[in-house]
Amino acid sequence: MNSAPSQVDAAVQGAIDVSGLSVRYSRRERVHTALDDVNLSIAPGEFVALLGPSGCGKTTLLHAMAGIVAPSNGSVLVGGEPVKEPTAQTGIVFQQHSLFPWMTALENVAFGPRRLGRTDAAGIARRGLASVGLGDFADAYPAQLSGGMRQRVGLARALAIDPPVLLMDEPFGALDAMTREAMQELLLAIWGQRKNTVVFVTHDVEEAIFLSDRIVLMDTAPSRVRAEFAVDLPRPRFFETRQDPRFHELRTTIGRLVREKTEREPLPSNIEAGRASSPQAAAEIPAPTRSRSSGWALFTRHG
Ligand SMILES: Nc1ncnc2c1ncn2[C@@H]1O[C@H](COP(=O)(O)OP(=O)(O)O)[C@@H](O)[C@H]1O
Ligand SMILES: [Mg+2]
Repeated sequence: MNSAPSQVDAAVQGAIDVSGLSVRYSRRERVHTALDDVNLSIAPGEFVALLGPSGCGKTTLLHAMAGIVAPSNGSVLVGGEPVKEPTAQTGIVFQQHSLFPWMTALENVAFGPRRLGRTDAAGIARRGLASVGLGDFADAYPAQLSGGMRQRVGLARALAIDPPVLLMDEPFGALDAMTREAMQELLLAIWGQRKNTVVFVTHDVEEAIFLSDRIVLMDTAPSRVRAEFAVDLPRPRFFETRQDPRFHELRTTIGRLVREKTEREPLPSNIEAGRASSPQAAAEIPAPTRSRSSGWALFTRHG
């Protein structure tokens, strides 16, 4: 069956169904369970935040949805079809920007549409760059752009193939607070127009509340879904949304749950005690890149 977006039943396009998903990694003769029996249904057009401490399996879950990591047990359906490899159904924005350093911003964004055989790839890329406010930077190389600009190019690149599902892995984690807030508002504005499904990984409670319709709180050891919260704040959301009493209420409730668990947990063995005291520092320890062989994997891997 053809899995091109146009062939998928409109009712399920953009829907994600994760059922009984376990992912195990072999590490030096030992098997490490990164995800254990995860169940999650996401409706088309929903904005879901995956929230949890470092090492709880957020990236693994996102990569399973993208077809970069294969399930050890259970299944992941996107648009009603089992995910076997990266496809044009999903666009992904990585934690560290994954732009091709030897390509200009325009060439980076045009890469996906070109792979899909779109003859107007350059036009798509120009409009995409303009939509993230980078119309004047088409000819700049990634090294010539700031961190925030690179993530904007990454967002434009993920969206250039017009995927029903957008997966984002702590995309703003490395940005300063002001740039991060501007990026959050930009993302909501774009999502408001496109109405695609977004799964947004973060370890920042406020970011999860500000952005999402629903927060899925993940647990460590075993790594599975611990709790879910509907974020019933009105949209569109702006800077002022953070002053809403409901925002504070959610932040208190979810923040308490997150802290409770984090304080009981021993530190993951790959994090030094000094560094782990800052969530930022813990997030910066790179997870190993993993990928299955596929044409799309090339596009989705760190460039
Ligand atoms: N390729 C891999 N091989 C072995 N272990 C891995 C691999 N990728 C991730 N892990 C382990 O799986 C767990 C979950 O990792 P990850 O999904 O990156 O978590 P998060 O994104 O929440 O920080 C961690 O303990 C991590 O060390
Ligand atoms: Mg991660």
